[in-house]
Amino acid sequence: MSSTILEKEVQRRRTFAIIAHPDAGKTTLTEKLLLFGGAIQLAGMVKAKKDKKTATSDWMSMEKERGISISSAALQFEYKDHVLNLLDTPGHEDFSEDTYRTLMAADTGVMVLDAGKGVEPQTIKLFKVCRDRGIPILTFVNKMDRPTKELFELLDEIEKVLGIAAIPLVWPLGTGPDFKGVYSLADKKLYIFDKSSGGSKKSSFQMKGVDDPTLDENYDPELVKKFREDIELIEGGLGDFDKNDFLNGKCSPVFFGSAVNNFGIELFLNQFLDLAPAPERIPLQDGGFLDPITSPFSAFVFKVQANMNKMHRDRIAFIRVTSGIFERGVQAVHNRLDKPVKLASSFAFFGQDRNTVDQAYPGDIIGVINPGTFQIGDILSAGKAPDLKPLPVFAPEMFATLSAKDTLSLKSFRKGLEQLAEEGILHLFTSKTVGSGNSIVGAMGNLQFEVFQRRLLDEYKADTNLARLPFTVSRWIKSSDLEKIPSSANLVMDKNGVGALLFETEWDMNYFSKNNPDIELKEHPL
Ligand code: G4P
Repeated sequence: MSSTILEKEVQRRRTFAIIAHPDAGKTTLTEKLLLFGGAIQLAGMVKAKKDKKTATSDWMSMEKERGISISSAALQFEYKDHVLNLLDTPGHEDFSEDTYRTLMAADTGVMVLDAGKGVEPQTIKLFKVCRDRGIPILTFVNKMDRPTKELFELLDEIEKVLGIAAIPLVWPLGTGPDFKGVYSLADKKLYIFDKSSGGSKKSSFQMKGVDDPTLDENYDPELVKKFREDIELIEGGLGDFDKNDFLNGKCSPVFFGSAVNNFGIELFLNQFLDLAPAPERIPLQDGGFLDPITSPFSAFVFKVQANMNKMHRDRIAFIRVTSGIFERGVQAVHNRLDKPVKLASSFAFFGQDRNTVDQAYPGDIIGVINPGTFQIGDILSAGKAPDLKPLPVFAPEMFATLSAKDTLSLKSFRKGLEQLAEEGILHLFTSKTVGSGNSIVGAMGNLQFEVFQRRLLDEYKADTNLARLPFTVSRWIKSSDLEKIPSSANLVMDKNGVGALLFETEWDMNYFSKNNPDIELKEHPL
């Protein structure tokens, strides 16, 4: 296939993730985007899937019970001759290491804020990951039909809390019960919020500037006065939007709307296509970017999921194509194992449905069967593996020993332990001294433990005992330092055989460091 086709396919792709605090409207916005892309026909389908009793696995039913979104990896849809890959980022508060890694596969972030609540804790966490990864972020201020914060204060809050300039590209006429529409600053059009038609009817009119008398004829004088003052302020003071600043993470263009009413979404989506970068910005270790066109096929594993479907009982590794063309059956080199692998079965998932994928391009997400050889962060490539920046690993802060309640289930317990640890739900350690020979699990939050135990029971029929350990800090060490570790230290080995030390408090860790200055303590096992 010629590189011009590859070039065209790269240019028309946009791979992005929505980041939001739970309840801000991520699911609703996803659904509206899918409606625009024709990927679903009816409003309510994503919600229906979220609520469905016969969810794909019990893990998913647990997600449902707790209001956690479905863990499908990515949804692909077309819109205006573009191919959009929307990565699914679970929005729950406690269990976000997998979310962080998913963001590594995105080229753009869409930050959804609840207009009444502004920047919330989970938004901050996810925003920081996007910023560290260097991906540009668009902001969609949702629920404009409900009482909102003062909007200039909200923009200020984004700047102060997140440290990024917030530049409105549209501005609302009224808010809450008085929300009448949004004005596009670039094309000077006012899009009217038509609640009676479900908001989906595109009514707009071109205004001859903000002094256009049509405004006075149609709307409350107070509302119009405030709107004019706002626009004057924005056009006078807030500075022009600079696309390069956006691409470099210095500013975020801000849109306003109401996802549930399907209002402001189309305006947002059209600008999104213009602003969001094509999949050309996968960062390399040396600070540069991987060229998706001249480099041969490459991809990295960012998510591993066991038991996607009870019927299939298979494990899937989700890969994000970073360069070249993926053709089903391609022979690739597995960088960690330094072994050839044939990628014979490749799928796209939509809820419970899976379809074979024969070809994929940079930016695309595909699921490949994982016979146990793929781990998060592995690189597969037809040529030399690109030197991609490694995916983040977080040093766990909670620890427990885990054992099977019943010796009969020991075999499936071990299998479950290994397969679920592979997914990166939590860290698995072993030790001869800590936890009296049991498996030690490490997590960032309690929910990870709960999910792990529940899945061991549901998917592997292994009932388990979990006993919390008193540690709150962990640090990896270099293998060359292993021999120097004093016997009093709480030494454990992770599943890849890398040593780590557990401490009860930060103070203990600092004390250890002071007494053992030649042992390097690392937050990442690399
Ligand atoms: P999440 O995925 O970010 O957690 O949020 P989700 O889309 O599930 O939305 C959370 C709630 O906010 C939902 O209400 C949803 O209908 C509502 N919502 C989303 N967008 C808007 C909006 O623009 N305006 C208003 N007023 N509400 C909005 P729910 O009662 O939890 O669920 P449902 O019964 O409506 O489905």
